[in-house]
Amino acid sequence: MQQSKHSPGFKNSLVPVLALVFLSPAFLSCGYVGPSNPGAYTSSTSSSSGSSGYSNPPTFSEINSQIIQPNCLVCHSSGTYTFTTYDTLIAGGVVKSGSPSTSTLYLDVSSGKMPQGGTPLSTTDVNAIDNWISAGALR
Ligand code: HEC
Repeated sequence: MQQSKHSPGFKNSLVPVLALVFLSPAFLSCGYVGPSNPGAYTSSTSSSSGSSGYSNPPTFSEINSQIIQPNCLVCHSSGTYTFTTYDTLIAGGVVKSGSPSTSTLYLDVSSGKMPQGGTPLSTTDVNAIDNWISAGALR
């Protein structure tokens, strides 16, 4: 009687031990993910085009080819808000040079209102428009 009771109890006690053995390497390796890339933020001070894909400040050519053409021209190729060229974009009144906070171009993409019904722009693209307008919205 004593022997037949002991055997299953011994088997059950192995379960948590095995679980610990299999889980502990995964747990330990997680602890080392954080400090593995200590220089991650140093590139933000770089002055010309870095990992963002834009110059600092971005050029209109970059804003046009990387943001407006792929995301906006499907709807903004005619009418009051025609974004096909620098001149028509500026003529639409949506860019106040030097002032992103009063430029509907910036306000609409940062709020997600534009592109209408589409995926909002990435933070990198929104920041590029912000920097382009801040720096004077140069041609
Ligand atoms: C699916 C169609 C569509 C897309 C894509 C789109 N827009 Fe618009 N957009 C509109 C419509 C419709 C209006 C309103 C036009 C009007 O009132 O005459 C508008 C108006 C605007 C205005 C004027 C201010 C306002 O909010 O009414 C801005 C600025 C603007 N869009 C920026 C953009 C930008 C930047 C993109 C690309 C990132 C974009 N839009 C993509 C449809 C679109």
